[in-house]
Amino acid sequence: MKINILSEEMASRIAAGEVVERPASVVKELIENSLDAGATEISVWIEKSGTSLIRVIDNGEGMGPEDLHLCVERHSTSKIKTEADLFCIPTLGFRGEALPSIASVAKMQIVSRPASAEFGHRLSIQGTRKGELSPAAAAAGTTVEIRDIFFNTPARKKFLKSPATELSHVCDALNRMALAQPAVHFRLFHDGRTIADYLPATGQQDRLYQVLGRDIAKALIPFSSSESPSKISGYLSAAPSSFPNTRYLLTYVNKRYVRDRVLSHGVLHGYENLLMKGQYPAVVLFLDVPFSEVDVNVHPAKYEVRFRRQSEIHEAVAQAVRLALRREAKEPSARSQWPQRQPVAAVLESPLPYTRLGVTRLQPPGANEAFTNALEGRAAQDGFFSSMVILGQILGCYLVCSSSDGLALIDQHAAHERVAFEKLRRQMATGAVTKQALLIPQAVELSAGEVMLLEQRLAELERMGFLLEPFGPDSYAITAVPSLLPEGDYRKIVRQMIAELAEIDNSDKLRQHLEERLATIACHSVIRANRKLEIDEIRALLSELDQIDFATQCPHGRPVLIEFRRDQLERMFKRV
Ligand SMILES: Nc1ncnc2c1ncn2[C@@H]1O[C@H](COP(=O)(O)OP(=O)(O)O)[C@@H](O)[C@H]1O
Ligand SMILES: [Mg+2]
Repeated sequence: MKINILSEEMASRIAAGEVVERPASVVKELIENSLDAGATEISVWIEKSGTSLIRVIDNGEGMGPEDLHLCVERHSTSKIKTEADLFCIPTLGFRGEALPSIASVAKMQIVSRPASAEFGHRLSIQGTRKGELSPAAAAAGTTVEIRDIFFNTPARKKFLKSPATELSHVCDALNRMALAQPAVHFRLFHDGRTIADYLPATGQQDRLYQVLGRDIAKALIPFSSSESPSKISGYLSAAPSSFPNTRYLLTYVNKRYVRDRVLSHGVLHGYENLLMKGQYPAVVLFLDVPFSEVDVNVHPAKYEVRFRRQSEIHEAVAQAVRLALRREAKEPSARSQWPQRQPVAAVLESPLPYTRLGVTRLQPPGANEAFTNALEGRAAQDGFFSSMVILGQILGCYLVCSSSDGLALIDQHAAHERVAFEKLRRQMATGAVTKQALLIPQAVELSAGEVMLLEQRLAELERMGFLLEPFGPDSYAITAVPSLLPEGDYRKIVRQMIAELAEIDNSDKLRQHLEERLATIACHSVIRANRKLEIDEIRALLSELDQIDFATQCPHGRPVLIEFRRDQLERMFKRV
């Protein structure tokens, strides 16, 4: 016989492997239990990055002696009872596995007292050996103490990373939960030092500042949508703030942090081409759906979920993100309407008396005739960009303007590119890219492979405004191009587009790929060399920027606009 049945002990250690990967997993499970118990204060004490001690203290509903005795048994839970409950789970936990799993790979002690009881009880358990219950003096709530994680599974201990890495995982675990529970006071201590102390926040925004820090939080803008039965809300970074990984892309379903492809893909989809390749936004997304619409029982550590209406949710998320970005692009200063966070020391004397001007209309010193005319001609318009006062151009490529709230620098190349891109995108959407026929067709010589590719893609090229005709066995002639393109040699761009089209595999991605191609065209349409722009050209450019969505990024994700708002200037000059 080759088959034998594993001992209870072995079986539970194997099961524990799925739940307890590292100290941070323990912290996560214990905090979840505290939250499920309705705690409003949760303190986490760890030593040696959690490898020697993890103690979680909460002020939740606690457990009486009978419950305490049972809670470390496998499959013991107070959270579900029937099969129907399994498809309607309002709590973070439900598997009845965390405590027994942790107990099987560490030394555990639990002290708990329900508020109504006079005193509490203590239970120790090591491996699967449970000690006797004993009465204990305790505050209302529960304290779970875990020592020497993996003491009986040295092989697993070897998989732990450096203390610093494990500690950062613990912080991440706590932070993710703290973000979704702004009203709960969270504290984290490591080797006696306070690492985090998140006082109950008055709103989601305050918790963002506490957890993500000022630099990231202040760049986030709120977004929301409620397409019943689901409700989406959250905060996102308007580009150009981006990060090289998805570390700050945090998604929640019913306040449960999840790593979900549907949600994160939806978010990125909403960003469209606003981010450079390999760059990710900071987003905190809360999706609230009826419990019956989501299956949370698909992953042992409950990190993944399954939606009943996956594509609807994907689209709703993308749309919510898209709308927020569009609104932000139209009105970049909206962010300054966020409640300004006052410095802690509220009384700050400005060293120099200065008046706050309602509207700052700086006249350029020695403004010439053209300038003054330009300024006046502009007064009637009120778009964000067209209401800027043009101060000049520097280094041959940056426009310097004063916006209603400070100083604005505009990269003229990026701005042109964005404008051209949006025009093309609109034209393409309506199937009407305006073409101009070439007087002298330009011949492109192609390899056999390229000819094949091109033959299959002629229709797409035509949609983008390029007409090509066979011209001998191994070449094609360009006979028309999008009229947006300046005069010149179009062979390079056509070659580039053929190469890029080669990468399109399935039709799903077609739209996205076409947009990337548009970005290529837009880029070529722009006068690259540093060129002095006439004031009329600048004005035209600014008012065009007002006509389009996403005016603050070029199609490759580079910023079009960098603004120094009043508060930033004041800080730079140490006035506050
Ligand atoms: N901090 C706590 N406060 C009150 N009760 C708790 C606490 N931790 C665990 N429990 C009780 O112990 C049970 C088992 O916990 P656990 O093994 O994590 O399973 P689950 O959370 O999936 O129910 C819980 O259902 C709950 O009733
Ligand atoms: Mg639990």
